[in-house]
Amino acid sequence: MRAAITATGHYLPPDVYANAYFERQLDTTDAWIQSRTGIVERRFASAGGTSDLIVPAARRCLDARGIAPAALDCIIVATMTPDRLCPSTAAVVQRKLGAIHAWGFDLAGACSGFVYGLIVATKLVETGAARRLLLCGGDRMSSVVNPKDRATSVLFGDGAGTVLIEPVEDESVGILDHVCHMNGEGELSLYIPAGGSVEPASAASFAERRHYIVQDGPAVFKAAVIGMAEVTEEILKRNDVAVADLAWLVPHQANRRIIEAVAKRLGLGLDRVIINLDRYGNTVGATIPIALSEWNERGRFTYGDRLALSAFGAGFTAGSIYLRWAIA
Ligand code: UT7
Repeated sequence: MRAAITATGHYLPPDVYANAYFERQLDTTDAWIQSRTGIVERRFASAGGTSDLIVPAARRCLDARGIAPAALDCIIVATMTPDRLCPSTAAVVQRKLGAIHAWGFDLAGACSGFVYGLIVATKLVETGAARRLLLCGGDRMSSVVNPKDRATSVLFGDGAGTVLIEPVEDESVGILDHVCHMNGEGELSLYIPAGGSVEPASAASFAERRHYIVQDGPAVFKAAVIGMAEVTEEILKRNDVAVADLAWLVPHQANRRIIEAVAKRLGLGLDRVIINLDRYGNTVGATIPIALSEWNERGRFTYGDRLALSAFGAGFTAGSIYLRWAIA
């Protein structure tokens, strides 16, 4: 039996922040942001937590499949901005959705969270431990970004994407393989210093603004190009998929220049690479499911299409999934 994505949904908060917004706040320019990142605008939620981004995305996904929340038996939330440290955001989503028969948990894989979550979801469904699993990637990055730091504040956005994972009869489609890497040496290249068990929240941590994300941009950039290209090359080779046979590469959306460099290394034309970070920025755990949902709703995927979903992020973490599209 195969596990497959059988429905998708996404949600972006309505408030759009163009680069001009940052020009007014910080020593930056639209030209710098566009040329260095490819980002034109992003969305920020005015209130609520990550669960409030996920729930509308989940409803859209379930509506697309025509099933009620009570039909779900498991919910996984990939996020680095949970509503609270405890309980899990999955539990909050379960309550808000009314998914009364679902158990679930959060998964912390930062920008690779959705890819890692899709592997876990696949295994749960393949073994019969779950039959209708909702995998959610969502982040309210505006809750952890320092508005005074031009090096990070322009990069991120808020949003959520969800996919339904179910067993399918046709063994030729669905989620077929994965490759994952991790290198904990990257811990301090992209991290939030305080608010965890190493440095619990205190008056000092608050005063020093240590609850915001910190990034060594160039170090992460270099590692991301190599890491994302490596996992993608490895998964294609292992599954005997020629680059020419790949319908779409669905990369994590952090920086257009990273995506272009990865595509170039693979010898893949940008016409087969999904790019939407110009409109949403880096929504971390949400980038890949938002991209999948947008392309699915626009009818850009065909049953049987070969897709590689590839991510790189904090940790460092990296992962790639090979699947064949299973929605007719
Ligand atoms: O999703 C998780 C993984 N994250 C990533 O993949 C992000 C990876 N890194 C990147 O995307 C890029 O490194 C950034 C977009 C973050 C930065 O671009 P960069 O080309 O690597 O720039 P840089 O950090 O080397 O900075 C170049 C210059 C610096 O000025 P000096 O030292 O040359 O005078 C920065 O201070 O650009 C300056 N700078 C800015 N200037 C205007 C940094 N941020 C800004 C800004 N506006 N917003």
